[in-house]
Amino acid sequence: MNQPLHSHRPLGALDQGEINDVTELHAAVIREKPEPREGFEPLSLWIVAGIAVLLFWGGSYLTAYSGRFEAGEFSEFQHGRPLPVTEGPADPLAALKREGMIAYNGVCAACHNEDGAGKTGVAPQLANSDWVNAGDASRLVRIVLHGLNGPIKINATTEFNMVGAAMPAQYDGIGGTDAKLAAVLTYIRTSWGNTAKGVTADEVKAIRLAAGVRTEAWTPVELMALPVGGGASTALSSDQLKEKLKALPADQLQSLLKELSK
Ligand code: HEC
Repeated sequence: MNQPLHSHRPLGALDQGEINDVTELHAAVIREKPEPREGFEPLSLWIVAGIAVLLFWGGSYLTAYSGRFEAGEFSEFQHGRPLPVTEGPADPLAALKREGMIAYNGVCAACHNEDGAGKTGVAPQLANSDWVNAGDASRLVRIVLHGLNGPIKINATTEFNMVGAAMPAQYDGIGGTDAKLAAVLTYIRTSWGNTAKGVTADEVKAIRLAAGVRTEAWTPVELMALPVGGGASTALSSDQLKEKLKALPADQLQSLLKELSK
């Protein structure tokens, strides 16, 4: 009787000496999930792709709306360009006003406020001011070029008479060019309800040359003597009137007197 130990082995299979069924033994290992362990595990491709998309979107967003990282930039427009106007004729002053707005917000707004309403005890209003809306910019150019100091009336009613509150020269502050000054003046004359004409760089230049070089600020009285066609004005005192009449050529004075005595 030479019976083999494991008779269930099929006849003719090689005897490799194993005494257990391998599949049976590994059943548990195949069924159970491996224990989680610390260390490097491959990241889900979805997460990698998701992060890549987010980074790309963030980059595009910054490029479009960063306002070129300039302090004075107010990123209302994409890439610093005005939004396309879809209907109606384009505003020919739009580019000039935009340039003026940037300089205004960077320099003048500190005292006159971004909405041109002025600040109590600091600076008077530019919105609805007869100084700003005057027929031409002779006074405005001089104010920004050399400054303004002295009691001032706006619209003949609002009085701004703060001791020590003077406006220093701002020409260099806004960039020191006639084009920049034209842009700022165009902006303040056409914003916040103001409806005066825009100002060109050539006009600024002509007024600047006429104003000449000076170091002290203008006084409102001095500026009011400049004819601007509308805007703040002052009646001549009788002394000033006398001076004016004296300066007239004799024949004009004669005809004026005749006119008046009719
Ligand atoms: C440091 C403060 C200050 C800054 C900056 C300043 N202003 Fe003025 N501004 C004043 C004050 C104060 C007065 C009134 C002066 C007076 O009482 O004589 C004035 C008066 C004026 C007036 C005449 C009065 C009126 O309200 O209409 C105009 C126009 C004006 N400023 C425009 C400008 C512009 C444009 C800028 C920028 C380029 C500017 N100002 C920057 C303080 C300032």
